[in-house]
Amino acid sequence: MQLDFLGDLRRTHMCGELRAQNAGEQVVLMGWVNRRRDLGSLIFIDLRDRTGTTQLVFDHSANPALHDKAGSLRSEFVVAAIGKVRRRDEETINRNIATGEVEVAISELRLLNESRLPPFLPSETGPLNEEVRLKYRYIDLRREQMQFNIELRHKVALAIRQYLSSQGFLEIETPFMTRSTPEGARDYLVPSRVHPGSFYALPQSPQLFKQILMISGFDKYFQIVRCFRDEDLRADRQPEFTQIDLEMTFPQPDRVYEVVEGFLKAAFKAAGHELKTPFPRMTYDEAIRQYGIDKPDLRLPKMAGIRAAFTEEDLTALNIDGSMNMVAIRIPKVGKLSDREKKELRTLAEDIAKRNKDFVGVFYDFVQLEKKRPETAAKIRELCSAEADDLIVPVVGIAGKSFSEKNKRAQYIAAGEGRLELARKYADRHDAFKRTGDPDKDFKWLWVTDFPMFEYDDKENRWSAAHHPFTSPHERDMDKLESDPGAVRALAYDVVLNGTELGSGSIRIHRQDIQKKIFHALGMTEEEARSRFGFFLEALEYGTPPHGGIALGLDRIAMILAGADSLREVIPFPKTAKAIDMMVDAPTPVNEAQLKELGIQVRKQ
Ligand code: AMO
Repeated sequence: MQLDFLGDLRRTHMCGELRAQNAGEQVVLMGWVNRRRDLGSLIFIDLRDRTGTTQLVFDHSANPALHDKAGSLRSEFVVAAIGKVRRRDEETINRNIATGEVEVAISELRLLNESRLPPFLPSETGPLNEEVRLKYRYIDLRREQMQFNIELRHKVALAIRQYLSSQGFLEIETPFMTRSTPEGARDYLVPSRVHPGSFYALPQSPQLFKQILMISGFDKYFQIVRCFRDEDLRADRQPEFTQIDLEMTFPQPDRVYEVVEGFLKAAFKAAGHELKTPFPRMTYDEAIRQYGIDKPDLRLPKMAGIRAAFTEEDLTALNIDGSMNMVAIRIPKVGKLSDREKKELRTLAEDIAKRNKDFVGVFYDFVQLEKKRPETAAKIRELCSAEADDLIVPVVGIAGKSFSEKNKRAQYIAAGEGRLELARKYADRHDAFKRTGDPDKDFKWLWVTDFPMFEYDDKENRWSAAHHPFTSPHERDMDKLESDPGAVRALAYDVVLNGTELGSGSIRIHRQDIQKKIFHALGMTEEEARSRFGFFLEALEYGTPPHGGIALGLDRIAMILAGADSLREVIPFPKTAKAIDMMVDAPTPVNEAQLKELGIQVRKQ
């Protein structure tokens, strides 16, 4: 087909803008053919751009040649159209779209480009194959939902930038080509041509740079910054993702919470939700005991302690160890279970128990318990504040096994896993995950505080840093660094939304003497520490102020705001679960000459 030039034609309106009050105006619209309907003497074209669609009308009796031209348009052709806006007849008004009261009677049409028939149409509403969507991402991004998500992401990032800037934070860029650290097993490496055999690493986060910016006196830093991690992917993990990263001098954790709550309020407002601050807080220990996880989803009830429901006689008769944790999971409104569902429930409990090797408790069959010991069961219901149609699953320890403190924690965690799996399984019965439009109910925020400073690494037989080795221990726990590392709490905190960890941060160590003690507790000699973090340890010696900060995942925030269940819905060009970019087809091998120049030889796997 003969294509036309754009010439000096200028667009007067976007396709989503025209309203009844524009009737009578001469307008110029440009966009893509979303849909064509041919009614013989009349042709209707829905013209689309990112703001919406407008109905164009071509009338054979008014202009036969123009009507013919419109008849040759196909989906995704790009056109410019000039015409007059008119009100639609009452019976043809489309209340589903913002421009539904008007249409444009076209007097001139320019065909700016054709399109091959796409593998799917942007207007399709049914489920689409994700691999096809990712391969033809440029078509996928034309879909209304994707356009909405990407614009939402823009608004959220903009609101955060404006807020932080208004609070005196400077956005400062840090390098993408930096140094690999020995912990950097998950580093993406970039070979240097100038220094064959040497590599830069892409940053997993700007952690050390932002701390150095505090040493340099910038006082308040932030950056909306890409980070790179070569880790196993899940729905809420991508190999490159974006952090809202910040750091400040002289803060207590409270001050960091205030700043984060401030920018989240601004970001959620930009997306149409009013948040109430401050967010509730809970220590790590409380979170584990009540929810069996360090990122509790507060939309669901917590687990209740049920020891008080059992008499000594109950314990003996039921073969339960009363010194072990005894909690019950409650999932609201599940109602009666069919025999098949009861069986499934038992299998699920057994699976969880198997997966947790340390776990020595059992998920008790409550239906059985109600039969065997109705009074005990009734007390459990009471302790859980359960309604008649709530599902109750007690988690207890079997008598005769030995329980360590570690097993106790493992039991809480296994119970917590059960709680989430059951909640997901019966999600269509309870309404905890359904959006109500009320931000207080839809967005359950939480600060989890006082994380442990160290974790014991069973494989290496030593303590490792739970957050990172520059996290400050609690002032009150300093004396336990040597004697009882497991009991040392860190000034580390996470911000959690609906059971997703959105951000993580800490107050950092700024004193040499404390830093040395931490390295010592981690079993690191001074030389080892120097060889790992030399430049940073040296910087710490030049007047480092107390400082601390946090980083939040922008992709995760956008995902939750978009109501999506994968980061791929809010990242324009994401990778698949196998870390492949389907559109550009990356990663790829490179040719021998390129490798040679870099001094790299590839070993056959
Ligand atoms: P952390 O590693 O916990 O902390 O990361 C902070 C936040 O970044 C997001 N995030 C991710 N999002 C998508 N894909 C991933 N692969 C991914 N990994 C992390 C999460 C997470 O909560 N330097 C410290 C922060 C600090 O101490 O200031 C850090 O990077 O939302």
